[in-house]
Order: sequence, then C-alpha cells, then structure tokens
Amino acid sequence: MSSIFVFDAYGTLFDVHAAISRFREQAGPDADRMSEIWRGKQLEYTWTLTLAGHYVEFWTLTERALDFALARVPSVDKALKPKLLEAYFKLDAFPDARAALRALKAKGCKTGILSNGSPKMLKGAVDAANIGGDLDAVLSVDVLKMFKPRPEVYRLVTDHYKCTAGDVTFVSSNRWDVMGAVSCGFRGIWVNRGKMPDEYLDFSPQKTLGDLSGLAQPQ
Ligand code: LAC
Repeated sequence: MSSIFVFDAYGTLFDVHAAISRFREQAGPDADRMSEIWRGKQLEYTWTLTLAGHYVEFWTLTERALDFALARVPSVDKALKPKLLEAYFKLDAFPDARAALRALKAKGCKTGILSNGSPKMLKGAVDAANIGGDLDAVLSVDVLKMFKPRPEVYRLVTDHYKCTAGDVTFVSSNRWDVMGAVSCGFRGIWVNRGKMPDEYLDFSPQKTLGDLSGLAQPQ
C-alpha cells in the first residue's frame, strides 16, 4: 500500500449533515431537504466561482449557501441560522474517522487532509473532533485561492510531501473529488457511504469502500 493517505474533509472525515442532526426536531420535517440544498449550493458556488476565475473563502460560501437553503425551504425557522453555522464550525467527525486515521498511523503511514475548507474552519473541525494528533498535515486550497477539482489544488499534496502523485492515496466520499485526484495520478479510494451509483467512469477509484473502517487493510 502507498504510505501517504490524504483525506477530503467535509463529507469524508466530517459529517456535513451533523449540523442539522443536532437541530432536527426544531427544524421540522423538511430538515434533511434543507441540509441537502445547503451542501449542494455550497459545492456549486465553489465550482462556478472557480470556473469564472473568482474565489470567495469556503466559510463565506457555507454561510451564503445556508441563506439560500433557508430561503428555499421556508418551513425551517431562519432563526436556526447562527446555531447551524456554529454547529458546522465544530462538525462531528464520522464515528469511523479517528480509528481509521489511527490504524494508518500505526502502520507507519503519513496522513493528511486536503480540503476546500478555509484554515480557520478546518482547525475548528479538527480540534472539535480531536483528530489533530492523528494528522501530519492539514492542507487548505486557500493558499491558491481556487477550489477542487482544479489540478493545482491536488499538487499541494505532492509539493507538501515532496513525493510523486503515485505515492498518494486520496480518500473522498465525493465522487467528483476522487475524479479530480485520479486525474492527477493519485490512487483514489471512494468512500461511498450513501451507496450512490458510480459516475466519472473515465476516472475510476482503485477501490470503493462503504465506510472508513477497512481503510488500513491492504488495498
Ligand atoms: C472539502 C469539500 C469538498 O472538504 O468537502 O474539500
């Protein structure tokens, strides 16, 4: 197995729907739909702005996407906005995230994050999940002012670890992010928690897992 494992953050190590989970009762029956729209818009803004040659940091986009989602789903009380944002800043890690990182470290692998998240919000999430000690690097696109899946972003990893793309296994639950990593020459692992159909068939992952628990097994 390659010895450098780099993870996407939001959706892969951190559960982007953990914020709404904390307020599901108050948010009512459309809570999950609102959260899906929130995440969808957040990502859409990264793609469209990057295509147009602009950059607005991920936290601001997260807030704007929430504004859109709350306007689109008026049954969810807008007064929840500050609570949802606060919860997003300190998102829960998936229950298998810490064990997976520790198992990789125990095998002598290097571990890291490559994320669209701004450094401050990544620190907030890493600290809240208490996984900082299990990570060798937390890399943010913010130094480049452009978002995934621009190839320049994935090159932050090879520059940081002074390695070749083939030395890196990139782990993401976002299939489009796996596409970006594989197209740059990384080994890709798709964590398909949601049992989604495959896509981007020209850029297949080396392996697809249902969660992070089997990650430290030989791939
Ligand atoms: C990230 C987004 C894609 O963490 O979830 O980079």
